[in-house]
Amino acid sequence: MPLVRLDISHVRNLSSVRFEPSPQVNLIVGKNGSGKTSVLEAIHLLSFGRSFRSHKHKTYIQHDNEACLIFAQLAQADGRTTRVGLQRQRDGQIDVRIQGQRAQSVIELAERLPVQLINPDAFRLLEGSPSIRRQFIDWGAFHFDHEFISAWRGWQKALKQRNTLLRRGKISASLLSAFDQELIRLGEQVNLSRKAYVEKLTPQFHRVLSLLTDALKVDLHFFQGWDAQKTLSMAVEAGRERDIELGYTHTGPQRADLRVKTATGDALDTLSRGQQKLVVSALKIAQGQLLIDMGRPLVFLVDDLPAELDSQHRQKLCQLLESLNSQIFITSVEPDTTDFTWADSTDVRQFVMQQGELSLLSKGLQES
Ligand SMILES: Nc1ncnc2c1ncn2[C@@H]1O[C@H](COP(=O)(O)OP(=O)(O)O)[C@@H](O)[C@H]1O
Ligand SMILES: [Mg+2]
Repeated sequence: MPLVRLDISHVRNLSSVRFEPSPQVNLIVGKNGSGKTSVLEAIHLLSFGRSFRSHKHKTYIQHDNEACLIFAQLAQADGRTTRVGLQRQRDGQIDVRIQGQRAQSVIELAERLPVQLINPDAFRLLEGSPSIRRQFIDWGAFHFDHEFISAWRGWQKALKQRNTLLRRGKISASLLSAFDQELIRLGEQVNLSRKAYVEKLTPQFHRVLSLLTDALKVDLHFFQGWDAQKTLSMAVEAGRERDIELGYTHTGPQRADLRVKTATGDALDTLSRGQQKLVVSALKIAQGQLLIDMGRPLVFLVDDLPAELDSQHRQKLCQLLESLNSQIFITSVEPDTTDFTWADSTDVRQFVMQQGELSLLSKGLQES
């Protein structure tokens, strides 16, 4: 599944960047503003249909251009390649192609090209709102449970409709009760998937974190969004009058959260920035490891690795990523890459980015 070829056109300052990445380690170095993050952004776009830097597509389409285009060849296990492409136009239109055929939705790309991003913004996984952690869980549940996405979509739709009814007022508890059956059925299904996923993730997370640092004791607690002693049906039933009063649905899977705690409190309040970065990296690597264990390799994007981590932890993180046997793209401003030490057998390609132009500096370092 690694990217064997990547063509990026009109993403930010990248007018046309074409290259053949290593199936293992790719290091992109260059000055600030040269376009390193934009390469990762383009790969992320191809997987998610959206950027990690902005929700507004107009910001990443190159100025004075009508559309951006990202095209890639993905290696399959049988040695053949799959061609995938995504075009985003200034007017918002999105066109996804797989083997030249128009795909129904970007979800088809996400399945083919799972991507994990580790960047300075990843802190938001700890300090941001619960919705960011729900997204994190849902990404995993989506890849693990084929029924998840349809249940999730149906549940979201039912929830939106219910909230619209509540906002307008004039709805009785008995009318609402009839409406709630679907919401409860799908909401329970979403919740079960999430729960099962967090149960799988937790031991992996502990394992990965202990490899990154043996000094940290951190636990994960899944909050399902309502009293753990109650079924969703009981919670919705008990909350109906209050929902009518409030004008929205105040309890249910839409309130779920993944709480990250140390022995003395929330990880956010008790850990240093550097330690938080390790916890977030461990969460993301554990998530990747679970997919790899299912025979679903993925791509790791690591932006600005040196930021916030000391040299020893940078090395550990690199070793861990390398041991996953996945394709990795790492960006760094530092031309000095002594922190990045790789096994002799690893195919490492180093690229230099200069004003939107990418060139290969060295290939298969160890072999040549
Ligand atoms: N829509 C756009 N069109 C053209 N250039 C852009 C656009 N958005 C940002 N840029 C420029 O593209 C570059 C993006 O750099 P970036 O990928 O963040 O670099 P790095 O990660 O190497 O610091 C910046 O120089 C920025 O000014
Ligand atoms: Mg950058």
